[in-house]
Amino acid sequence: MKIGSRSPRRRPVKANVSLIGEKAPHLDLLLMQLFRSLRIAVIYGGDKRTGGAVIREAHNPRSWKSYETVARNIADALSRLGFKDVAVLPDDMSLMGQLKLRRINMAWVNSGGVQGRSAISHAPAMLEMLGIPYVGHDPLTAALLDSKHHFKRQLQSLGIPTAPFFVWHPDEPRKSLLSDRRQRSIFAKWPHGFVVKPVTGRASLHVHYVEHAKDLPEMIAEVFGATQNSVLVEAFLPGREYCIAVCGPVVARRGKLHDLSAPFAFSAIERKLSKNEHIFTSMDVRPITAARTRSLIADTDGDVVANLEEMARSVFHGTPLQTLVRLDVRADYNGNLFVLEANPKPDLAAPSTKSTSLIAAGLARNGMTYDDLILSVFADRAATLFNGRAHSVAQFFQSFQQSSGELR
Ligand SMILES: Nc1ncnc2c1ncn2[C@@H]1O[C@H](COP(=O)(O)OP(=O)(O)OP(=O)(O)O)[C@@H](O)[C@H]1O
Ligand SMILES: [Mg+2]
Repeated sequence: MKIGSRSPRRRPVKANVSLIGEKAPHLDLLLMQLFRSLRIAVIYGGDKRTGGAVIREAHNPRSWKSYETVARNIADALSRLGFKDVAVLPDDMSLMGQLKLRRINMAWVNSGGVQGRSAISHAPAMLEMLGIPYVGHDPLTAALLDSKHHFKRQLQSLGIPTAPFFVWHPDEPRKSLLSDRRQRSIFAKWPHGFVVKPVTGRASLHVHYVEHAKDLPEMIAEVFGATQNSVLVEAFLPGREYCIAVCGPVVARRGKLHDLSAPFAFSAIERKLSKNEHIFTSMDVRPITAARTRSLIADTDGDVVANLEEMARSVFHGTPLQTLVRLDVRADYNGNLFVLEANPKPDLAAPSTKSTSLIAAGLARNGMTYDDLILSVFADRAATLFNGRAHSVAQFFQSFQQSSGELR
């Protein structure tokens, strides 16, 4: 399949949703039934300081955020779309009990975890163990994407450009940092400075620009001090910065579902950097607004749009993604594009008059509303569950049948 075609063929969803050994229902009809019957829980990051959240508070190498507001935005959209039973639950020790008590039969993971290592994979791991299907990546994929150094190696193996880098592990003596031959060869002649950042991070927190190589050890020590985790050092790419989200082929526009037969790349956005802003300022400090983003236009932005779309589809094809990701991309001095990361749980906040998200900012260009975005993510996952994975399908269909029966 050619990656990067700019106008994928559209056809209405028909027999694409088929269940092995069962009569194939149409996806839109199936969804109507799911809306009526499923008890769905949107899960956000639990707070370890809350009583009953954990047995013992531990360090979290990933900067913690609850994402509860966004979970409520998603839940509200699901209700507007027709779901009758939508709960919003924290990802913590109480989750298992709550899922059982409320007889939840599908989840939507909007959590980066509570604490500990690979925290983003804890909720999907629990859901896998409990046999509850969910919207979200499986534990391995979630952890891979949330570990920038591992994902960058994945990109390298796929031949997708990513900024040159090395990883500093805490058990390595800091003095040897720049005397290593391989690292020296990568970085010695780099004229544009460096970026030091956590291997697992969010919202540009603890991400620093370092102009001179001699200052790297001090900054690495600072980031390690904050995260107690390996530290990523990258060549600084001084060009423009872009975002592009990509999801599976089932997409909703104005409430109507389409199967595009290829991963869907959303409208690409440029993140507008201010003068001398090396690192895009954290959204915790400056919310994303229309003034900070620009939708790219194929006619005027030339090859960039096609290249970003091709990158997005290559990542989708090359990585076992189960749902939407947002790629952060930056250009070098000559305009060549490099993937910085793929966000496994991109911000899906509903746009407001005060702020938007890097995905919502470009939706209008795709002829989509926020509710279309949420419907697309749900429908695509439902289609995958029904289509491809025999074990999940059996469970999913069983719980769906049970709940339909109970509610009828
Ligand atoms: N190699 C690099 N060259 C140039 N800028 C970089 C590089 N790495 C990171 N940045 C800048 O730092 C910002 C944050 O980096 P990155 O996306 O890797 O981390 P993050 O904290 O996960 O970000 P977010 O969650 O906001 O997407 C980028 O948006 C970009 O502005
Ligand atoms: Mg980023």
